[in-house]
Amino acid sequence: MRAVDIIEKKRDGIELSRQEIEYFVRGYTNGEIPDYQAAAWAMAVLLKGMTAEETTFLTLAMANSGEKLDLSHVVDIAVDKHSSGGVGDKTSIVVVPLVRACGLPVGKMSGHGLGFSGGTLDKLESIPGFRTNLSKDEFLHQLGTLGMVLSGQSLDLAPADGKFYALRDVTGTVQSIPLIASSIMSKKIAAGAQAIVLDVKVGHGAFMKTLDEARELAALMVSIGDLSGRDVAAVLSDMNQPLGQAVGNALEMKEAILTLRGEGPADFWAHCLEISSQMLVLGKRAETIEKARAMAQEALMTGQGLEYLRRLVDVQGGDVSYVDHPEKLPQAPIESMITAPVNGYLHEVNARLVGEAAVLLGAGRSKKGEEIDLAVGISVLVKVGDYVEVGQPLFLVHARDETTLNLAAEQLSAASVIADQPKAPLPLFYGLVSSD
Ligand code: URA
Repeated sequence: MRAVDIIEKKRDGIELSRQEIEYFVRGYTNGEIPDYQAAAWAMAVLLKGMTAEETTFLTLAMANSGEKLDLSHVVDIAVDKHSSGGVGDKTSIVVVPLVRACGLPVGKMSGHGLGFSGGTLDKLESIPGFRTNLSKDEFLHQLGTLGMVLSGQSLDLAPADGKFYALRDVTGTVQSIPLIASSIMSKKIAAGAQAIVLDVKVGHGAFMKTLDEARELAALMVSIGDLSGRDVAAVLSDMNQPLGQAVGNALEMKEAILTLRGEGPADFWAHCLEISSQMLVLGKRAETIEKARAMAQEALMTGQGLEYLRRLVDVQGGDVSYVDHPEKLPQAPIESMITAPVNGYLHEVNARLVGEAAVLLGAGRSKKGEEIDLAVGISVLVKVGDYVEVGQPLFLVHARDETTLNLAAEQLSAASVIADQPKAPLPLFYGLVSSD
């Protein structure tokens, strides 16, 4: 077999065999196939596409390219969740303890934020002492004893994906639905997931800008699940405007705690309830989505979800008093309100621009590994469709200094669009894609 033949075949729109895909992934991972051939191949895939079978072979080849986690001796069914990222998305911090309180164990590997899109680990790290770098043995032990983990990636999961992703990033080949689907699914499969709830975001602050693209990505990931023996359900959710109110690490941690107390923003709680319910069904803890919803509601009302967050924080070395008193979380020295310049209806609260404003404040990184400021961020006080009068608060900015405050304020003034005509609120969800 030769790499050039595989590239030409894909260039001509011919379906690749499992052997050819495995050969290519193996060769690129071990350095026998150079970057220029892999780049040409990725571009051919972007232009010609891949069938669901080809994408599944690619997913499995990437999942098998490094270490894999076997959770079968620790839990009866390993359910994972994955969000395609966004602004104000602190869902895992609520959902993992909540479903655990309903009897479903979850060992979740999360990431740090990059660019305007936040990361669960940064939010958790706003609790002093909380460890996000558990070893593989610690991860497995905690999953077996406590039944939940929220940590960073301790293994070299799907190294082929890491290599391909870096290459795609600089060769204009990120925006390929089969390459995105296989990238996401290979990491989940390598992390041991048998069932996966995918939260595919759509809109200004998401990878997928249109509903059609998001549906196509979701359907392909569900097919990969079917063909590889994993149960997958994909929720299509809105990311035109930020989720909840808080954007910024400590602010989001606080909002997650308040939500588990039953005091969170309505849209964020509705989102957590949907994701939790889908997980409880896939994890066979509830027969129907209605029963799952009732279980998750009950875990919230009885305070069990919050109690499991306390236990999670405690066992991972965090100071539990911060869960009991979230006002202790880091707070920025400057708070400044941005108000409506005119009367009217909110037509846009642009998630991407709000996320970028948070990065300008120091809440996010422009490069991997950069230091961030856990205290700064934005409280988003309005939603699309709201009516506001001139002078009414739109955003509360939490800043470290005047310079970053001014930069963020300028960005935020572009993020909100107010007009005279009424505007319908945005839906939270656009549908569910699953195999049945
Ligand atoms: N997220 C991933 O993990 N991979 C992609 O290719 C795109 C988004």
